[in-house]
Amino acid sequence: PPGAQEFVPADTHTLDELKSAAPGCRGCELYEDATQVVFGRGAAHARLVFVGEQPGDIEDQQGLPFVGPAGRLLRDAVGDAGIDPSTIYLTNTVKHFRFELRGKRRIHQTPGPAHITACRPWLVAEFSLLKPDLVVALGATAAKALFGPSFRVTKSRGELLPWPASAQRPQDFPVAESKALATIHPSAVLRADDRDTAYQGLVDDLKIAAAALS
Ligand code: URA
Ligand code: SF4
Repeated sequence: PPGAQEFVPADTHTLDELKSAAPGCRGCELYEDATQVVFGRGAAHARLVFVGEQPGDIEDQQGLPFVGPAGRLLRDAVGDAGIDPSTIYLTNTVKHFRFELRGKRRIHQTPGPAHITACRPWLVAEFSLLKPDLVVALGATAAKALFGPSFRVTKSRGELLPWPASAQRPQDFPVAESKALATIHPSAVLRADDRDTAYQGLVDDLKIAAAALS
């Protein structure tokens, strides 16, 4: 795919301007079957940015990230970690829903490396406007997008890491103080056999994020 770069306006000054351009993206084929683009949402001066995988079925229909079951669980975990929800911004690695039709059902498909690369310019542009202190990658797709394909969430979750070079336009902001952290995706908690333990693990990782902000 050609990638999103040519569709990302070069000199946007607000997230709203950036968001307005996203429906025009043809950076990969995922816009063809999805209902609409799902851009990030949240505080324009967020200190903490959460990056998920891609919109789910409900997000695709409503046009907003994290409004389905995974989003509800994430909101609970953010609260239980003591993070002020007015200081966060929620977005996704890939901005269109990738799915496979089985009969009338739309079955989630994990975005591939080409989708992650194609969509990255939107994420980098969001970071360059937000200039967050911390980015939290939720699950393997976001973690690989930020830290590279060999990154393993199971091995490195909950570790405070340097700001990832792939998420930086060097001219944009001094990232020396910014940090990153990977944890599991809230959907993985919903699917876990032992949901309580998985949830507590997510909250514990988010507490490390909260401590890094204070
Ligand atoms: N899962 C994600 O990764 N992002 C959403 O917006 C919703 C579910
Ligand atoms: Fe553009 Fe990303 Fe949508 Fe592909 S998934 S069309 S790169 S916004």
